[in-house]
Amino acid sequence: MSVTSVTQPIDVQAVRSGFAFLEELVNGKPIAYLDSASSTQKPAVVLDAMREFYEHAYANVHRGVYRLAERATEGYEGARRKVAGFLNAPSEREVIFTRSATEALNLVAYAWGLDNLKPGDAVVVTELEHHANFVPWQYIASRTGASFLHIPIDDVGELRLDALDEIARRGNVKILATGLVSNSIGTINPVEKLAGWAHEQGAIMVVDAAQAAPHRKLDVQALGADFVAFSSHKLCGPSGVGALWGRAELLEAMAPFNLGGETIRSVALDRTTFNDLPHKFEAGTPAIAEAYGLGVAIDYVTGIGLDAIEAHEHELVVYAMERLAELDFVRVFGPPADRRAGIVSFEVAGIHPHDVAQILDWEGIAVRAGHHCTQPLMTRLGITATTRASFYVYSIPEEVDRLVDGLVKVQKSLG
Ligand SMILES: Cc1ncc(COP(=O)(O)O)c(C=O)c1O
Repeated sequence: MSVTSVTQPIDVQAVRSGFAFLEELVNGKPIAYLDSASSTQKPAVVLDAMREFYEHAYANVHRGVYRLAERATEGYEGARRKVAGFLNAPSEREVIFTRSATEALNLVAYAWGLDNLKPGDAVVVTELEHHANFVPWQYIASRTGASFLHIPIDDVGELRLDALDEIARRGNVKILATGLVSNSIGTINPVEKLAGWAHEQGAIMVVDAAQAAPHRKLDVQALGADFVAFSSHKLCGPSGVGALWGRAELLEAMAPFNLGGETIRSVALDRTTFNDLPHKFEAGTPAIAEAYGLGVAIDYVTGIGLDAIEAHEHELVVYAMERLAELDFVRVFGPPADRRAGIVSFEVAGIHPHDVAQILDWEGIAVRAGHHCTQPLMTRLGITATTRASFYVYSIPEEVDRLVDGLVKVQKSLG
């Protein structure tokens, strides 16, 4: 998916003026926040809207008949409509609020997997997956006796689609679960193609869109997915809330995941019946103001334009790859810039990623070091960790320059 848009560029200085964290000084230096793949910063519009909601529209949702409860319910359900629109979901009934992408993926693994998998079936993931889209499937496969298979990557860090034939020959594939964008090395996976293949096998397609939803337009119908998960906190929204979209006929056939509160229609001493979608999957008091905040964050990013955000990050990643190529002691992992999202993982010869990140912090540069919850990928790359820089709507080329200058200092002091 290369970027060839004629989209209006982002007015980054105007965007940055809405983020108070940029006033922070670290060691007397302005902060360069290059860790948005981990979590994004929050603009004032989202924080202000949440405060306003808490002050003037807050109560528990759904059952109250008084004014505040009605406002709260409208705020919460309005956010669900926004998520449905954001994903081009056929119906808002198909949008389940969860705590996070992780909980959304666990919901599918437990509620679909436990009842639909048996010995002889196969669950397929990829070698690129975040643990959140790897471990639940590995676990449910072992609980049900299904096999747990993976699509390997090539040396560039892209999926080896030639492996699909061998997996298809083995047969009985019931689930393909894959991320759209790798959080570790930025690879963009051909999800439409994979969904077509999964359906040919009679399998369902689960898409982890945690690294995609904040950065590119998503259309769950065009993707051909059956389930799509993402988190609010990577999209300028609050933490503590995420969403699962699932095809209604699959969600309707599934047993609830957690039990209590709105999941229930009626309870008698001998029997409980469950609610309709989407409430059947939302147990207990939900993250009300956080869901509302996610809706505001969706308005915020769609107001800027997902195409514009994608193009902006693409320019940054092209620039970062060019600048990092000037440093002969830095090795970048993953595909070329035209086939990756705004994420750059690298190693600095002979220096542990945690030391790299520590010295960069002294320069005011925030990057992430570690395995990024992708240990199978790290094993495939023959390493235990990388240093990762990742961009978002408020990132600027000067921050890439500071990263490069910082890495020269790292090499001088520890290399
Ligand atoms: C690709 C991917 N999937 C899933 C997750 C899990 O997201 P959360 O921690 O918000 O549940 C992450 C978080 O880094 C991610 O990058």
